[in-house]
Amino acid sequence: MEFKKEFLDKLRCADKIVFFTGAGISAESGISTFRGADGLWSKLKPEELANFDAFLRNPDMVWEWYQYRRKIINESQPNAGHKAIADMQSAFESVIVSTQNIDNLHRRAGSKTVYELHGNIERNYCLNCGKKFDSKDFSYTGKAPLCDCGGRIRPDIVWFGEFLPEDEFAASEKAAADCDIMFVVGTSAVVYPAAQIPLVARSAGAYVVEVNMEETDLSRRANYSILGKSGEILPIIANMASQIRNKEVK
Ligand code: OAD
Repeated sequence: MEFKKEFLDKLRCADKIVFFTGAGISAESGISTFRGADGLWSKLKPEELANFDAFLRNPDMVWEWYQYRRKIINESQPNAGHKAIADMQSAFESVIVSTQNIDNLHRRAGSKTVYELHGNIERNYCLNCGKKFDSKDFSYTGKAPLCDCGGRIRPDIVWFGEFLPEDEFAASEKAAADCDIMFVVGTSAVVYPAAQIPLVARSAGAYVVEVNMEETDLSRRANYSILGKSGEILPIIANMASQIRNKEVK
């Protein structure tokens, strides 16, 4: 695979890189994306499942849906794309992941700094007292659980209309403003405010590289758009980075 020379030059000189990721990076692990013909939101209604009012109206149904997703995620493994990002930690001074995914696969692949903009499906908390619960505390079947205090327990996931975790978003913005290369991987980049992160990087002067199966709204604003599967493209980039950074090819 041939890459643009400009990109290789950036890769050679970069110190700090950031990966902004979405559902597409986990597609090759068997986890569905949201948009597009086979996406979750083409079959299900987000307002009935990823929404606080819906949870209060029908907690059992929402809980059951998240238990179903937990099962799929727990049975999945990080793929070559997640692993390539973790591998790049040895090639650059700093590699930060800012993800919209809730599946924890970046950490399981070995990425050390991961900012989760939309929460994490392994965590839950009580709406009343705030007590935290690990998803392993619950069986995959049954009704939406209650805390010892009687409060309802919800997944620690950002639903539509809710605020993003302030510290994770601020840290992502800071990393974006401070990086040399921003990779935008497997996201339609249409859900704000998360989708602002690549734009922050672009306006701060970072080189923005998109890796996606298809063109998105971001493609024309990126410096370089690479079309293909992240599980195939990212290992090639990781390999290339380690070669050109350890052994300078003139
Ligand atoms: P989307 O489903 O909107 O977009 C997934 C993107 O991944 C698309 O652009 C696909 O072309 C691309 N893609 C699919 N397979 C790929 C592969 N193997 N390699 C590279 N790219 C691939 O998912 P997100 O952008 O993550 O929010 O969606 C953003 C948010 O919308 C999610 O975090 C979720 C959802 O509603 C909440 O739940 C709050």
